[in-house]
Amino acid sequence: MELALAALTPSERYKLLTGFVIPRPIAWISTTSAGGVSNCAPFSFFNVVADDPPLLIVGFGPGSAGEPKHSLKNIRRTGEFVVNLVEEANANAMHRSSDEIPEDESEFALAGLTAAPSVRVSHPRIAEASVSFECKVYRRIEVHPLRELILGEILLVHARDGLIDVRSKRVNEALYRPIGRLYANRYCTTRQRFNLPGDLPGEAT
Ligand SMILES: Cc1cc2nc3c(=O)[nH]c(=O)nc-3n(C[C@H](O)[C@H](O)[C@H](O)COP(=O)(O)O)c2cc1C
Repeated sequence: MELALAALTPSERYKLLTGFVIPRPIAWISTTSAGGVSNCAPFSFFNVVADDPPLLIVGFGPGSAGEPKHSLKNIRRTGEFVVNLVEEANANAMHRSSDEIPEDESEFALAGLTAAPSVRVSHPRIAEASVSFECKVYRRIEVHPLRELILGEILLVHARDGLIDVRSKRVNEALYRPIGRLYANRYCTTRQRFNLPGDLPGEAT
């Protein structure tokens, strides 16, 4: 079967692309509204794309009424945001925080989350997340009046104690349990891991 993407509807393209490119990591973005309300929501058009400078990318579509999502509005206004990563323990709260609620209501309250202060940016991080990246906007890329890609430069990493080997800066894989998004409301764990032939990196590298 061959499918020309231009001949498909946006919804068909969405199903096809998000069905094949699995799993996708989840950026659980936390920001504050102009009115001072803490906001968070998950975004799986997401990945890290460079290490020097350290860059990540997030793709935003419109809200259900065609308006920009609150996270994007807050990022545009301040040029900053926080990407929290999602482990198994936070799956339900992450999913709950994707509800489209009024801007003056907080997904932190909705999902039972705690806002913790950041160091380099004005927005809060999610205290329950084991890993958070404080970011500033590196480039905004408007791909369509209703769709935007944000390239963010990662300024600072927060990690739960023990998750990073202090000397080598290597992540302790055995203690890290991120989930991925398959499609729609379907997710996966990252428990089945395997080696291919070759040496594993030593502790110091
Ligand atoms: C796992 C997951 C991944 C999502 N990924 C995206 C995404 O990449 N881009 C997007 O625009 N919306 C995505 N959404 C939908 C947003 O989370 C949702 O529209 C949310 O209400 C936006 O909140 P905000 O208006 O507070 O920014 C995703 C939802 C879930 C559950």
